[in-house]
This record gives sequence, structure tokens and C-alpha cells, in this order.
Amino acid sequence: MRQEVRSSLNENFNSIVKRVYLDPLFISQSLSFVKVETKNIRLECGDFSGASTQRFPIQFESQNLGFVEALDFESKTTKKALQNLSQTLGALENGEELGLSAKSKILTSFEAWVKERPDFNWIGIYRRDPIKPQELIVSAFIGEPTPHIRIPLDRGICGAAIYEGRSLNIPNVKSDARYLSCSLKTKSELVVPIFNQLNEAVAEIDIDCASANGFDALTQQEFESLAKEFSVFF
Ligand code: SME
Repeated sequence: MRQEVRSSLNENFNSIVKRVYLDPLFISQSLSFVKVETKNIRLECGDFSGASTQRFPIQFESQNLGFVEALDFESKTTKKALQNLSQTLGALENGEELGLSAKSKILTSFEAWVKERPDFNWIGIYRRDPIKPQELIVSAFIGEPTPHIRIPLDRGICGAAIYEGRSLNIPNVKSDARYLSCSLKTKSELVVPIFNQLNEAVAEIDIDCASANGFDALTQQEFESLAKEFSVFF
């Protein structure tokens, strides 16, 4: 059993590292070495030329799970992407109950969206914590690391969408008092609940957009269909 978890984690990890490597920003920064160590993973990609390295802790809810290590660099973009990688890995290491191949499929769908809509600056899943159902917890995502790892149901657009059990399409986040900011770039936001078989809103897709009015009716419908597809994972 433990072995199965480990292999799906590695598979998922590889797809995440591939995403990082394929990112044009990374290629332009010539990031040629990444190493990850946690209790489940010990992997190295690329060549370590002997230059100095920088380490990013993999943490989840203040628990230290390991680290991501890469060649030392100046770029803030690279640093943010590596912080995202370590935050995603922290959520993955801690999220075995959701099914890691599910998370990999979810990330693949999000990658396709970001390619089509580069103004989507953050796209991810929040799910209700099975132990504390009055709180949402961040799951797999693409974008900069978020300060909102947990969101109580009575806070944020994210909390409201679950509480009200419907999509919330916010054309201008500045004019919505419930909005919790993740990035100054975000101008509009769409949150679409994911319902389980008992028709309970158990998770949601959250998309932040750098353009105002980022989500027309068709885009909202497409995300609502995606949320139905994802419901089998929860
Ligand atoms: N904007 C969300 C918080 C989550 S971050 O955007 C990733 C909200 O208002 O609930």
C-alpha cells in the first residue's frame, strides 16, 4: 500500500517537475538543477555543476515535510515558481486521501486552460477539510504561492461559493468586500463549486484573472462542466 502511494506520488511529482522545466520562464533562467527530498521522494533532475544552491522548505500546516533545492539564482519569478512547487508538493504529500492521480489529472486540465488564457494568473482547487468541514484547504494549483492555505467558510469568495452552493463570477474583485487577495495582479475571479454524489459542495475550482470581466457566460459554463467531471474525485 505504502509502495503504491509512493509510486503515484513520484509519477505526479514528475509531471510537476516537467511542468516547471517546460515553463519558458524557467528555460530563459536556465534552471538546470532541481532536487527534492521528502519522506516519500528522493529525486534529482538535471546537472549540479558545483555552484551554490538555494533550498525551499516543503511544509504543510507548519509541519516540515522536506525541501526543494535548486541552483542559486537572482530571479524573483524563478523563486516564486519554486515556492509554488514546494507548496504544491506539501499539499500533495498531505493529500493522499484525494488520490494523487486525480490531482495529476486536475493539474493537466489547468495547464491547458493557462495555455489558452495566460491572463488566468492562479487556478486551483480548494476542498473542505474532512476533519474541520467549516474550513477550506488549498489543494493542487498553478500560479504564485497563496497566503490563503485555509479559508473558513464564512470568509472570501471561496467560502461564499461553497456556503451558497453556486458559482460566483466576480467581474471586479475590488468592488466585492468578501474578496481575499492572493495577488495584486488579480482583477476578476470565478469560483465554481464541485458537488459530491450527495449533492454537497465539497470542493471548488478557483480561477483568478489579471483582466477585469475575465469570465463570460461560456467560460463559466465550461468550468461548471469541468467541476462535474472532477466530482468523481471527491
Ligand atoms: N480570492 C479568494 C482567496 C483565494 S486566492 O485567490 C488563491 C477569495 O476571496 O476567497
